[in-house]
Amino acid sequence: DSFASVMLGLGSYAPELRLTNEELCQRIDTSDEWIVSRTGIRERRIASADETTSDLALSAARDALADAEVASEEIDLVVVATITPDMAFPSTACRLQHKLGLRNVCCFDLEAACSGFVYALDVADGLLRSGRYRKALVVGAEKLSSIIDWEDRSTCVLFGDGAGAVVLGLDGEGPRLEGFLCGADGANPSLLCQPAGGADKPASEETLRHREHFLKMNGREIFKNAVRVMEYAGRTLLDRHGLTPEDIDHVIPHQANARIVEGLSQRLSMPIEKFYCNLEKYGNTSAASIPLAMDEARQAGLFKPDELGLLVAFGAGLTWASALIRF
Ligand code: UT7
Repeated sequence: DSFASVMLGLGSYAPELRLTNEELCQRIDTSDEWIVSRTGIRERRIASADETTSDLALSAARDALADAEVASEEIDLVVVATITPDMAFPSTACRLQHKLGLRNVCCFDLEAACSGFVYALDVADGLLRSGRYRKALVVGAEKLSSIIDWEDRSTCVLFGDGAGAVVLGLDGEGPRLEGFLCGADGANPSLLCQPAGGADKPASEETLRHREHFLKMNGREIFKNAVRVMEYAGRTLLDRHGLTPEDIDHVIPHQANARIVEGLSQRLSMPIEKFYCNLEKYGNTSAASIPLAMDEARQAGLFKPDELGLLVAFGAGLTWASALIRF
């Protein structure tokens, strides 16, 4: 319909420090061969000690505002998708607001793990369409290095830090958000979680001793669910819009594992060439992964006017989300 949000500008940021597979091999019992063949990841970025999630978000947000040619004072809604907030509270969105020099605007964090950015786009789109806000800044930002157990080889090789952002408005030029699907299944939270530090298991000497403040994952179960649920999220959204996989020109999937993307490509019967992947450079950056990939693909000139894009994500929760974009 004509009443859809437009991405007025995109931006992204990745910390300078590269951590390669070779460097990880010096710290833990792993190999470049294992990591590349099982995941496709070659290196990831690691934020510095004094660089926190709101700083990564700030760099991506400034980039997106410059791209949109929108002054920060025009923003009246700030949504940050993250599972690595600067603090449990106040929100990273409030810290970002302050760093951007904004006043009196609506700010909140949204937590849907790796699906967080697409969830946040859906929520911001709805709020803009309600007429209560005019321009939204939607950010996915993560400092996953702060919750990774660097002694756990089954997880520490997978994740990295980064941020991506979009400026959304109801009128103006840019890719249009044409539809969303968000869903969740909370039956098995322990498949992928940070067990301690919240109300369920407040920090104690015991939780520290058991390393329960770090991310824990059952990789094999998550893998199986990821392929199945991303196919569902993609297919169901296409069905609702009377589209088929052939109608889609580009898929920007959550960047977790190249084998998950290959599995999705097979199950949707869509050629792998339609899937944009940059996970070999960044690993899995959770809520940042889709906007970081989308911004890179756009800068590479991949998206042509009128082409149709599909975002599809999957994450802890379990959550899933998809979105249709008319470029
Ligand atoms: O955003 C969503 C977040 N999560 C994900 O997307 C992750 C989804 N899962 C995965 O990507 C994959 O399950 C992994 C990459 C995590 C693991 O791949 P896998 O093919 O499922 O391997 P596995 O867990 O079945 O482990 C196979 C073997 C094990 O050894 P044994 O028990 O067969 O002797 C592991 O101990 O690989 C071993 N292993 C490693 N070896 C070298 C696990 N991690 C490593 C490592 N280096 N880093």
